[in-house]
Amino acid sequence: MNEPIRVAVTGAAGNIGYALLFRLASGSCFGPDQPIILQLLEIPPGMGALEGVVMELRDAAFPLLHGIVASDDPNVAFKDLDAAFLVGSRPRSKDMDRADLIKINGPIFTGQGKALNDNAKPTVKVLVVGNPCNTNALIASHAAPNIPNTQFHAMTRLDENRAKGQIAKKLGLSPGQVGNLAIWGNHSNTMFPDFYHAKADGKDVVTAVGEAWGQGEFMKTVSTRGKAIIVARGASSAASAASAAIDHMRTWWDGTAEGEFSSMAIYSNGEYGVPAGIIFSFPVTVKDGRASIVEGLVHNDYAKSKIAATAAELSQEREAVADLLG
Ligand code: NAD
Ligand code: LMR
Repeated sequence: MNEPIRVAVTGAAGNIGYALLFRLASGSCFGPDQPIILQLLEIPPGMGALEGVVMELRDAAFPLLHGIVASDDPNVAFKDLDAAFLVGSRPRSKDMDRADLIKINGPIFTGQGKALNDNAKPTVKVLVVGNPCNTNALIASHAAPNIPNTQFHAMTRLDENRAKGQIAKKLGLSPGQVGNLAIWGNHSNTMFPDFYHAKADGKDVVTAVGEAWGQGEFMKTVSTRGKAIIVARGASSAASAASAAIDHMRTWWDGTAEGEFSSMAIYSNGEYGVPAGIIFSFPVTVKDGRASIVEGLVHNDYAKSKIAATAAELSQEREAVADLLG
């Protein structure tokens, strides 16, 4: 057995938190030999509900759960962290875009970035889930100058999983047979789910599904799935979001398999013509806890225009929060 690691979840009494915590405690993310101490953050009005969640975590008697800290103080919840899931923030309603949340949610990530800077290990792996997640991750990273910007990721794994699910359904396969499906750009309607480089059962997806379906129904379904779920459920995706957060962190922790890549929104240094200094989703391989952007993918004019549009949107979001970037 390894030494326990310290893992924070913010918004721990919320919908995603409720689905996430039990999978973390059961070993689904960090593996069956890795004990964890959960460090849970809520705002004061959420502390009562969090108390109930803590009772349930204890009642589940997870062998790997070596401790629980519940606090409304990020300086307590972020002490000595190895990993953090920044979920706590407001979800949108059905008449909003995710970017409409930036003025409400953005400032949360200034305070939490600073608290991470002051309390977490500099090697902490921070996954931002709260929307708009790319720009919130940028805000948190700017507020944490002692933590390298490589340690701040935003989550587009849910979009990757959605895309795989749609392709699997179309081709009568299981999602595990669909691979190398990269999401480029923002976790928003402008994202580009790259079906051109994806493989299904070892074969090119684009040949199997046809370009018209890829550019049409597939793109529309994947990029607007979040809103469709809000309309249908009356609440934003929660269990699938928690599952994707587990997938992202597990890939970051364990690495990618040989020949495979995954989607992570990470700090851009200008790769593929994307402006430097935004958090942009790229196809990445991961080795020894370090995500590297896959090099040498060739894009057609359609893909290039999609990537340019989603990059432009993220540059605008960055401008909109310039006052939070220090
Ligand atoms: P929710 O309202 O059910 O829960 C949010 C929780 O966060 C609440 O318990 C609230 O008290 C808490 N909270 C609010 N401000 C906080 C703060 N400053 N510090 C700590 N906790 C705080 O919402 P949810 O369904 O769990 O969604 C949370 C966020 O995740 C939303 O912004 C949502 O849009 C986003 N989301 C992102 C993705 C993605 O793919 N990136 C997917 C689904 C949802
Ligand atoms: C999602 O994609 O399900 C989340 O980002 C929630 C939302 O607002 O769409």
